[in-house]
Amino acid sequence: MSAENSQENRPVILTGDRTTGPLHLGHYVGSLKNRVALQETHEQFLLLADAQALTDNAHDPEKVRRNVMEVALDYLAVGIDPQKSFICVQSLLPALAELTMLYLNFVTVARLERNPTVKDEIRLRGFERDIPAGFLCYPVAQAVDITAFRATLVPVGEDQAPMIEQSNEVVRRINRQAGRDVLPEARALIPNVGRLPGVDGKAKMSKSQGNAIALSASADEISQAVRMMYTDPNHLRASDPGTVEGNVVFSYLDAFGTDRAAVEELKAHYRRGGLGDMKVKRRLEDILQALLGPIRERRAALAQDPGYVLSVLRDGTRKARERTQQTFEDVREALGLFRL
Ligand code: TRP
Repeated sequence: MSAENSQENRPVILTGDRTTGPLHLGHYVGSLKNRVALQETHEQFLLLADAQALTDNAHDPEKVRRNVMEVALDYLAVGIDPQKSFICVQSLLPALAELTMLYLNFVTVARLERNPTVKDEIRLRGFERDIPAGFLCYPVAQAVDITAFRATLVPVGEDQAPMIEQSNEVVRRINRQAGRDVLPEARALIPNVGRLPGVDGKAKMSKSQGNAIALSASADEISQAVRMMYTDPNHLRASDPGTVEGNVVFSYLDAFGTDRAAVEELKAHYRRGGLGDMKVKRRLEDILQALLGPIRERRAALAQDPGYVLSVLRDGTRKARERTQQTFEDVREALGLFRL
């Protein structure tokens, strides 16, 4: 069965990733894991968000282009199945740009400036003085991404929740103007493990912060990252009682340990004293090597066959073009724009 002939009328999922670098473990626990599971029951589109990537990388379009393939390889390597999901390239979908021009009129600049995720990003990127207009407006383009596919479910990390909220606001305004529900609202699906911290203990794992473990990391890079991980700074001797809260190694064990009871036992031992950081780190390293080894192997095999990956993107983008073009027609119609 190909995704093309699959059952219609399944609920639609849309997610995307900026193509600025290979994906990492934060993406995996935040969203990819859910996407792999949900492709069985939903019609799923994955957007290689190269146009959004340009909003904070206009000085480096070559990086944005190169990473389209890298992110596509990550998707396929973690188990996104092109027989079940569509993978498409954002900048090759002109209806998204056309819809963005319309949606921008249903949001205020003040509202855009209040988006907490955008505020954080502006601070991190040092954009305080010179915010690219495209960057300030990207939540509107993202509202378009979601609604142009008629998605009702968006599996994302918690940092993206304000985007879904803002998207639904735009949807309600357009529907009110149209006098009918031309667009559906969407719900964010956020995993309950919370945000995965960076290996340095910073609140968020992020490529731009240099504190991430890529899904394509080599065995050595994984060992090194685990060795560098922030633990409890007051846990000087193995015999000392240690603190689990805020200890990055335990946050990762919570996120990736499959044997819950074993993780709880480890925590109790650490709190009591008598368990050294090295031992806990070795346990975590085994778990991460076992998770990422097969992903790395599949990724390397797929990288040998770029023709196949391109054909997956071509098929997905064709399907996405039909869907998004149809929504553009519907919105034009609903707003009563001129026709010839
Ligand atoms: N903003 C998301 C990120 O930074 C990427 C993205 C683009 C996205 N369009 C989307 C996510 C639509 C969910 C839905 O990773």
